[in-house]
Amino acid sequence: MRAVDLIRKKRDAGEHSREEINFLISAYTKGKIPDYQAAAWLMAAWIRGLSRNETAALTEAMLHSGEVLDLSALPAKKVDKHSTGGVGDKTSLILAPIVAAGGLTVPMISGRGLGHTGGTLDKLEAIPGFNVNLSLNEFRQVLAECGMALIGQTSEIAPADKKIYALRDATSTVENIGLICASIMSKKLAEGLDALVLDVKTGSGAFMKREEDSVRLAETMVETGTSMGKKVVALITDMDQPLGRAAGHASEIRECVDVLQGGGPADVRELSIELSAWMFYLGGKSKTVEDGRTLSIDMIESGKAFEKFKQCIRLQGGDERVMDNPQLLPAAKSSLTVNSVSSGYISGTRCEQFGTALAILGGGREKKEDHIDHAVGLEFHKRIGDRVEKGEPLATIHYNSDARLAEAQRLLLDNFLIQSEPSAKRPLIHRIIGQQK
Ligand code: URA
Repeated sequence: MRAVDLIRKKRDAGEHSREEINFLISAYTKGKIPDYQAAAWLMAAWIRGLSRNETAALTEAMLHSGEVLDLSALPAKKVDKHSTGGVGDKTSLILAPIVAAGGLTVPMISGRGLGHTGGTLDKLEAIPGFNVNLSLNEFRQVLAECGMALIGQTSEIAPADKKIYALRDATSTVENIGLICASIMSKKLAEGLDALVLDVKTGSGAFMKREEDSVRLAETMVETGTSMGKKVVALITDMDQPLGRAAGHASEIRECVDVLQGGGPADVRELSIELSAWMFYLGGKSKTVEDGRTLSIDMIESGKAFEKFKQCIRLQGGDERVMDNPQLLPAAKSSLTVNSVSSGYISGTRCEQFGTALAILGGGREKKEDHIDHAVGLEFHKRIGDRVEKGEPLATIHYNSDARLAEAQRLLLDNFLIQSEPSAKRPLIHRIIGQQK
């Protein structure tokens, strides 16, 4: 087989066989196909699209490019959640302890912030000492001891994705459903899971802004995972405004602690409980999703989820005292309130711009090697449907440097949409794709 023939085939809208996909992935991962040919094939695939069969073959080829964890020595079912990312999306750090406290194993391999969206690993690193770079052996040990562990992608896990993702990032071939599905599912299925809950975001703060695209991505991922023998369900959830009141690493950890203590913003609590409920259900811990909800609430109210997160922080080298004393988390030196210049009702937000505002304050990366300031953050005071008066605070910026403060302030002010009539509140969970209750 030759790469040039496969590029031509995809360019001319042909459908690849499983063998052709295996050849492309295996040869590229081993360095036998140069970047320029892989990039040409990616662009052809981006333009022509990948069929469901091609997507499944690509996912499997990328999954088997590295190690697939064998966690069969751990008796509990292994369940994870993956979110396609948004602003203020911190549910992993709440649901992992809920589900581990309820008796399932959560082997979570997560990513860093991407574009305007935050990343679980970066949030965890706001906790002094927390080590997300465990070896796979250490990962297994923490899982055996406390039922949850949170690490970054290692070189052993889906190496093909690591190489291909870097190339997609540099060749503008990220936003394609088949390529996104293969990238996400190959990494997640390498965790040796029994079941996976997908949180596919939709709206102005999501990668997929239109609901029909989010649904197509969700259906593709559910179908691909199911065809590989896993229980998979996808929740299409709202990202037309930030999740919760806080965006920014340390402040999001504080919000997680609040939820684990039984408080916190209603939307963060509701989504965390809903996703945990599905994890309990798919993992066989509850007979129905409704029972899963009851179990999730019990794990919060009893303090078991709170204690579980503390244990995980300790086992991964972090300072567990932050759970009782969140003031030990990094805090920004200064703050500035952004006040509304008109009266009316919040009808929507351009949520992606809030993620950009956080990034330019130092809470995100423009280049891969950029350093993150975990202390900076945004606090949102208004949600869609709320009344706001002229001069009333819309948001507070917590910052350390005023170099780009004015730009961040403008991004916040300009991207709350205000109109004279009240608009309907948006549902948090739009649809559920896959296995039904
Ligand atoms: N996240 C991933 O891991 N891969 C993609 O392709 C897009 C988002």
